[in-house]
Amino acid sequence: GKVRAPTHIVSTICDDRGEEPTYAGVPISNIIEKEFGVGDVISLLWFKKNLPRYATKFIEMCIILCADHGPCVSGAHNSIVTSRAGKDLVSCLVSGLLTIGPRFGGAIDDAARYFKDAYDRQLNPHEFVETMKKKGIRVPGIGHRIKSRDNRDKRVEFLQKYARLHFPSVKYMEYAVQVETYTLTKANNLVLNVDGAIGSLFLDLLVSCAMFNQQEIDDIVEIGYLNGLFVLARSIGLIGHTFDQKRLKQPLYRHPWEDVLYA
Ligand code: ACO
Ligand code: LMR
Repeated sequence: GKVRAPTHIVSTICDDRGEEPTYAGVPISNIIEKEFGVGDVISLLWFKKNLPRYATKFIEMCIILCADHGPCVSGAHNSIVTSRAGKDLVSCLVSGLLTIGPRFGGAIDDAARYFKDAYDRQLNPHEFVETMKKKGIRVPGIGHRIKSRDNRDKRVEFLQKYARLHFPSVKYMEYAVQVETYTLTKANNLVLNVDGAIGSLFLDLLVSCAMFNQQEIDDIVEIGYLNGLFVLARSIGLIGHTFDQKRLKQPLYRHPWEDVLYA
């Protein structure tokens, strides 16, 4: 009989062997004919699902709203400096991307993990925040360098408004808001930030849209898919900053001595 040689790679998201590639089984001709957007493509290639329009629109909002936040943030700064050092596009992009992590843009997965755990264990916000403090862990998704109680992050407001209108449930986001209400009693800048908003709202999406089983939700949270949204979104801005510097023919960057404390 036929013996199938064992393969070295297993792949389940995209098949390019036919006349046209398929994304999670959907031929690209369908994707074009049905005018799928980038949110649909992310749903297919990341989650292997045809998510409903309100969900794919939410994904697109995350991408649009996180595409850039000015030249001063860690990622853009790195891309700008790298571009001014004469490096190629990919080097500039990854130099910026490498700053994405627990403090900057990469707190979405941990925000989802901690908010989910705290909500599911029915910890009240005070208990949750104080337990984190005892452990010496900053609450992921809370805090911002320039945003505060009196200078709210519009991105967070847009996402919350959209979800309250379109999601079947926003229980995790409402929990995150209760956590914010408590942290704001400690300091003005301890707002729910865009990572925390996306982390909590994506949990709401996963548990309420009836297309994910428990194992899939656990995998998404455990593996950490959600930082991918920020990585993908911010790549747009980092590429923009890279081109901007080259177009402006900016010279090699050297940080001024006056701005360094030589101790
Ligand atoms: N949870 C609890 N306490 C906090 C938090 C937090 N998330 N953030 C700040 N604090 C408190 C702490 O007491 C901190 O003192 P410490 O240094 O002894 O821990 C004190 O506030 C001072 O913090 P600031 O100097 O005001 O905060 P900073 O401006 O340095 O940090 C940052 C801002 C990095 C966003 C911080 O709030 C943080 O680590 N948050 C959690 C990670 C996170 O969500 N990052 C994503 C930000 S949004 C984005 O990047 C797109
Ligand atoms: C961002 O989106 O880059 C920010 O929220 C971080 C910042 O400090 O502005």
